[in-house]
Amino acid sequence: MDFGMGNRLSRVMGKGRTVMLAVDHGYFQGPTTGLENLKRSLAPLIPFADSLMLTRGALRSSVDPAEKVPIVLRSSGGTSVLKELSDEGVTTSIEEAVRLNASAVAVSVFVGSEREKQTLLNLSSTVDEGERYGMPVLAVTAVGREMNRDSRYLGLACRIAAELGARVVKTYYCEDFEKVVDACPVPVVIAGGKKVPERDALQLAHDAVSKGAAGVDMGRNIFQSADPVGMIKAVRAVVHEGADVESALAMVRQIAAGR
Ligand code: 5RP
Repeated sequence: MDFGMGNRLSRVMGKGRTVMLAVDHGYFQGPTTGLENLKRSLAPLIPFADSLMLTRGALRSSVDPAEKVPIVLRSSGGTSVLKELSDEGVTTSIEEAVRLNASAVAVSVFVGSEREKQTLLNLSSTVDEGERYGMPVLAVTAVGREMNRDSRYLGLACRIAAELGARVVKTYYCEDFEKVVDACPVPVVIAGGKKVPERDALQLAHDAVSKGAAGVDMGRNIFQSADPVGMIKAVRAVVHEGADVESALAMVRQIAAGR
């Protein structure tokens, strides 16, 4: 691997495990609970994130350029919750990603959806350009309402994304998750999904890494927690230190009690 690609990837993936903080939700759903004021929500969390996944608008407006946190730039979009979500295009070029000193770009694919081909071609064209500049592409396997989030479907989506050149794939946790990881030749990270109780979100992170995930790219279960800083610290303990769920949960409670 060329130095630029290797260097950027290692900034995002560390030595194999990562806690990415996903705060790109506004790109299709506008103001999001927990992220109404991006700058205020992000500031306390940045020191504990291995990378930040967000749009260029959020980055320019709400993150201090002096921050050292690696950036994963959301580069697909063009849709809103009011219309067909799979109808995405590429919204941010690799040139813009280089200008913003991004360490990777993220593109969603909607396998099995109405616009499957369009989104897979968004990924391929971004990989073509990204490889030219040493910019890794993270593929997000977005799941339409009509799809089952099972290992067969997610395994298919992850494998296609990797075959099209994604350097990292983000997907959802599912039963038999180890089959998804085994069939995907690049590292897999998981999204947290809808907000659930802290214990369940920590269990999800724990099970995912035990079954081969390289970490999490978690959003709502961190920034919508009653204690976002406690929660990201607890997720870090699970992903980086192999903490069990109960001791990680105790960490969230201690931090909340000490406030
Ligand atoms: C949307 C995304 C989001 O970043 C991701 O799903 C957010 O993570 P979470 O589900 O943990 O809130 O990629 O397509």
